[in-house]
Amino acid sequence: MTDKTYPPSAAAAAHAHADKAKYDDMYAASIADPEAFWAEHGKRVDWIKPFTKVKNTSFAPGNVDIRWFEDGSLNVAANCIDRHLETRGDQTAIIWEPDSPDEEAQHITYKEVHARTCKMANVLKEMGVTKGDRVVLYLPMIPEAAYAMLACARIGAIHSIVFAGFSAEALGARVNACDAKVVITSDGAPRGGRVTNLKDSVNQALLNDFDEVKCLVVKRTGQQIAWRADGDYWLHEMEETVSDDCPPEEMNAEDPLFILYTSGSTGQPKGVVHSTGGYIVYASMTHQYTFDYHDGDIFWCTADVGWVTGHSYIVYGPLANGATTLMFEGVPTYPDAGRFWQVCEKHKVNQFYTAPTAIRALMGQGTEFVEKYDLSDLKVLGTVGEPINPEAWNWYNDVVGKGKVPIVDTWWQTETGGHLLTPLPGATATKPGSATLPFFGVQPVILEPTSGEEISDTAAEGVLCIKDSWPAQMRTVWGDHARFEKTYFSDYKGYYFTGDGCRRDADGYYWITGRVDDVINVSGHRMGTAEVESALVAHSKVAEAAVVGYPHNIKGQGIYAYVTLMNGEEPSDDLRKELETWVRSEIGPIAKPDLIQWAPGLPKTRSGKIMRRILRKIAEDDFGALGDTSTLADPSVVDDLIENRMNKS
Ligand code: WTA
Repeated sequence: MTDKTYPPSAAAAAHAHADKAKYDDMYAASIADPEAFWAEHGKRVDWIKPFTKVKNTSFAPGNVDIRWFEDGSLNVAANCIDRHLETRGDQTAIIWEPDSPDEEAQHITYKEVHARTCKMANVLKEMGVTKGDRVVLYLPMIPEAAYAMLACARIGAIHSIVFAGFSAEALGARVNACDAKVVITSDGAPRGGRVTNLKDSVNQALLNDFDEVKCLVVKRTGQQIAWRADGDYWLHEMEETVSDDCPPEEMNAEDPLFILYTSGSTGQPKGVVHSTGGYIVYASMTHQYTFDYHDGDIFWCTADVGWVTGHSYIVYGPLANGATTLMFEGVPTYPDAGRFWQVCEKHKVNQFYTAPTAIRALMGQGTEFVEKYDLSDLKVLGTVGEPINPEAWNWYNDVVGKGKVPIVDTWWQTETGGHLLTPLPGATATKPGSATLPFFGVQPVILEPTSGEEISDTAAEGVLCIKDSWPAQMRTVWGDHARFEKTYFSDYKGYYFTGDGCRRDADGYYWITGRVDDVINVSGHRMGTAEVESALVAHSKVAEAAVVGYPHNIKGQGIYAYVTLMNGEEPSDDLRKELETWVRSEIGPIAKPDLIQWAPGLPKTRSGKIMRRILRKIAEDDFGALGDTSTLADPSVVDDLIENRMNKS
């Protein structure tokens, strides 16, 4: 890590929504009087019934309750579409760039988004969806994904997007967990020049268990798909039967807007529930300030709508701000490693937001892929999802930004709904690798991990917690409020526990050091080691499995699996491949172990608890730091594991 600082340029400061003085003032005001601050900024969205109460939140053990703007009512789709129609109905809302550069891009106006969203909302109603019902989206990155989100929001249905890279198995589990009435999917999904058949996965997921769940299918590729006997509908056919007028439903500020399943350190993924009012206020405000978004700018977030980044910064934040948001169906390396930069040039992108893993992958391909393109429209570069190493930061800064474009390293989580730690382009001097300072209203604290004491010295290292609520904080775990309290509010009483380790330097800058729990971050995708383990042990030849993360040059972390086979089973390369394929089909390609080590035994305490600390150290090649192994039931298994450690290449 380096502490070299990059102050905002005078030009960036002059042009920005906030320079340093304004950030300092606004931040101080937001902490001194959150009620007054958010009463003012809550008005950035349109309310049907204006709120009179601003904040009513408690992190108290046993009584965690979070409400913002609780007596107000509004509709998120109306805020993202209708309120712009008069002033910018003919402005492009969404630029859609398909997977293949040979297919034409679409420029979709706010008026068109309105018409398509209303149609889809009426189709959903026709299919029996009403306020409060859950709708699962399993879609490629096509405009219909945005229409579907907004259509749900319009009629008060709760969407739950399942990343299209998840397997049928994982999809089925999520449909079941939130008890969805409808799944929206497409025939095929082109990505990186290959096409996956999403409808097939839906069929597998639905036919297996829930044949009463209806399925709405978007025609994307026109390929042959298998139709179920009942309950399948083409969107384009249904649209012919409905009107393009659908009045937005009046929603309470605290009504759920969406559920998004995310990985935790234990058990199955949790359904993170986000609200309507607080979420949209915060998503739009962070989008405006963090990216210094101005009217007319072209904003591009490369995430997938299956992750929270896509929710807040492809769809909700930008559209609430009347922005032009670019939606990209493809991948950074297809047809070649210049694709991102080609799209930036083609659409004159002003703000570009991606993940460090993509930067690292492109960095390895050489600078000529960047230099070919005119990137002079770029005004802000952002990163999200994992710590960015200074080499990648410097490459982004020097090669992509030509040393002239501020970089915002945004730290946040599915649970937080929007950025919590981030530089502002015209206000914050940046340091490569640091997410710098809190956004308005956010009070980060560093706690001593064991005692849970708040460390008051500026320079500190420990676990990162947040002291008080912010409007886009998740409200609960779907169907399991006790799990919500236990996961986030029980280890450190009175605080929201992020699960991240963190260092604060002498300037008060925050440096995320990575997860302190059993969550790993693989190419910016968040995964619970427990999920991969339970997929592995579900295989008939596996007796036991332990999964840890290890440092990986491109992915940030790789998945390292220790596998103990059933008696009588012999390790082989074929079996290794079989297990890889198995995990892909249980969870999805992103969960495929990078390394599988056969482990005749796992290091366990006498009470049978697996010592993951030791497994992590072995995977990291850090044999010197194994610590005390004398409490193990059988210390010799460690020697065996070290001897047979996989050759990382
Ligand atoms: C990690 C993604 C360092 C962190 C929005 C967090 C980061 C987890 C950063 C949440 C960053 C995210 N620097 N680490 N800028 N951004 N993380 O829920 O460990 O997919 O807890 O949300 O990603 O991942 P999630």
